[in-house]
This record gives sequence, structure tokens and C-alpha cells, in this order.
Amino acid sequence: MEKFNIAIDGPAGAGKSTIARLVAGALGFVYVDTGAMYRAVTWKVQQEGLSPHQESEVIALARRMRIELIPRPEGQQVLVDGIDVTKDIRTTAITDHVSQIASIGDIRQLLVAMQKQMAASKGIVMDGRDIGTHVLPDAEIKIFLTASVKERAERRFKEMQDSGNSEMTLSQLEQDIARRDQLDQEREISPLRKAQDAILMDSTSMTIDEVVDQILGLCKDKVGGG
Ligand code: DC
Repeated sequence: MEKFNIAIDGPAGAGKSTIARLVAGALGFVYVDTGAMYRAVTWKVQQEGLSPHQESEVIALARRMRIELIPRPEGQQVLVDGIDVTKDIRTTAITDHVSQIASIGDIRQLLVAMQKQMAASKGIVMDGRDIGTHVLPDAEIKIFLTASVKERAERRFKEMQDSGNSEMTLSQLEQDIARRDQLDQEREISPLRKAQDAILMDSTSMTIDEVVDQILGLCKDKVGGG
């Protein structure tokens, strides 16, 4: 199949990462989780003992650090200055502060430039919040994936239970997801919003496979590959 780019945006917990990874696998494309890049910066900020409010120091640090995203069969591996932070960037200590880091304009500019470069040779499935609107406005396929807050909280809860993590209750997760939605949608720079030409998919009552199949069907129709 000829190479093209797919942008998948949507709120936290809509299943973007899982779906983007499966779609990339099916097409032989590379999956890029851009949220991991904002998380990697947040990790480094904490590592250096900085507060997200120290914007100029945070920006200087982000410019100095090296983020590597390595595609692996089990998912994307994330390295910061050579250190594997794949697991550490998923902890609540990071999740609680990442929205603040993602609202700093210079940080976004820096990461968006890296993301554009990653997608330049095509064959990329990129997930995030601003991919269809800002990072890859020319992506051949744009999906805006959503699901109800309740459904997203339940999915996260199950995932956490399955991995033996009992850090949060279901109602805490629901509140956290609603809070993050609000921060992502209301921030001044590149707020989370559906690109005009993105296809809206509500996965509330769909299985992962159904969503993946639907996206692969769109790829066939639109790009005429096969
Ligand atoms: O998808 P995630 O939960 O790993 O994203 C982490 C944070 O980064 C979340 O607060 C939204 C933000 N983000 C963003 O602003 N732009 C992106 N392209 C990806 C993530």
C-alpha cells in the first residue's frame, strides 16, 4: 500500500493509543504517541526538581533534552537522554502535571516541529490532541475519536486493575478524566478540538476491533490502497 499519514485525536482515555498502534501494525506503518513526548518533558522537569510554573527554565530544559521514540512490537519505547522512561511517564505523578506543561506555547512549538519531522516521510499513525488541526493538517486520514467520560473512566479502571494498580477509584478516575478534558479543551494554544475535515467516531459502544476495522476501511476507500 502506498504510504500516507493518519492523524488520530481525541480526549484522554478514548482508546487512541491502542487503536493507533493496531492500525499502524495492520498497515505496516509507524505509530507515534505524541502524548508521550509531553509526558517525557514533564518527567525531566520533575527529575530536575523544577516546577511547571518556572516556564523559562522548563523551556530551556526541553530544548536541551533528547527524546527518542522507538517503535517496538509491544508498543512505543520512550527514551529521555538515553534513559528508558516508558513506564515512569505513565504514573499519576506525571499525569497530574502534564496538562500544565502541554499548555506552554514554546514547549508545543518545539514538540510539534519534532512531530512534523517524524511524519515527513509518511507512513505514520500519530495520536494526540492537535494532530489533525496543527501537526499534520494535510494528513490523508483524520479521525476524532471520543467516548463518554463514564466509559473512558471504566476502561482506564479496568486497565489499572489488570496491571495490579489500585492507585485510584472509579469515581476518582472519572473526575480526573473530566478535569483533563477541560484543561485540554480550554487551553489557549492548540486546544483539543475536532479538525473540520476529521471523521468523528464515538467508541462508547464499539469494540477496539470494530474501531480499527472502520479506520482500515476508511483508508481503503480514501487512499484506494490494497
Ligand atoms: O494522551 P496522553 O494522556 O498521554 O497526553 C498527555 C497530555 O499531553 C494531555 O494532558 C494532553 C497533552 N497532549 C497535547 O496537548 N497534545 C498532544 N498532541 C498530545 C498530548
